[in-house]
Amino acid sequence: MSFKSIAIDGPAGAGKSTLAKKLAEQLGFLYVDTGAIYRTVALKVLWEKADPSDPAQVVPLLEGLELHMGYDSDGVQRMYLEGEDVSAAIRRHKVSGAASQVSAIPEVRAFLLDLQRKLARENDVVMDGRDIGTVVLPDADVKIFLTAAPEARARRRLLELEQRGEAANYDAILHDIRERDRQDETRPIAPLRRADGTALLDTTQLNLEQSCDRLLSLVKEKIAL
Ligand code: DC
Repeated sequence: MSFKSIAIDGPAGAGKSTLAKKLAEQLGFLYVDTGAIYRTVALKVLWEKADPSDPAQVVPLLEGLELHMGYDSDGVQRMYLEGEDVSAAIRRHKVSGAASQVSAIPEVRAFLLDLQRKLARENDVVMDGRDIGTVVLPDADVKIFLTAAPEARARRRLLELEQRGEAANYDAILHDIRERDRQDETRPIAPLRRADGTALLDTTQLNLEQSCDRLLSLVKEKIAL
């Protein structure tokens, strides 16, 4: 039996997780948030007080890394590190920066590649990340590059933080988004870029519902559901 895969790549804050998760729900596919996996590796590095930008400190931590994924009954992906549910902890600001740094280390990427491919071999998946269409699943049935202008992404993030009652500053968020884009786009290994045969979905001018509709129609153009 062969499984279907949908690869969704794009920069930080483009709404990938929200849209990919909704799409997975609509299709009955497994949603795989690969950023969460990189974040969990980054959290381990921070736990060990190691420098996330230094391969000599990070690579030895991969051996014996106790990282697991699980799913709630409603399909929400949860991450476990050494048996502890770290799904909330990996969303912290400090972990975002560290995740971007560890994800630039080739050994980290190689280590996580098999895990990601195995999930796609064994399930129908909607997988989101930065290199899913280019590296992890180049033969995915549908490949989508989801993006939005940095300013739109910063505004959405500001709103999200405000709704959670967290202090936030638009300029600082925008600066952060641009810095993460730069890091993710310029790293020598698996940089963020649009793969061949990838549909572009720019959500700058779209609300959530419009983005979902557009995403679903892009998928329907490629696979019979
Ligand atoms: O999507 P996110 O913000 O949760 O991802 C966290 C970091 O992990 C981000 O800086 C880029 C990196 N990442 C990656 O390099 N490759 C992926 N497939 C997913 C995430």
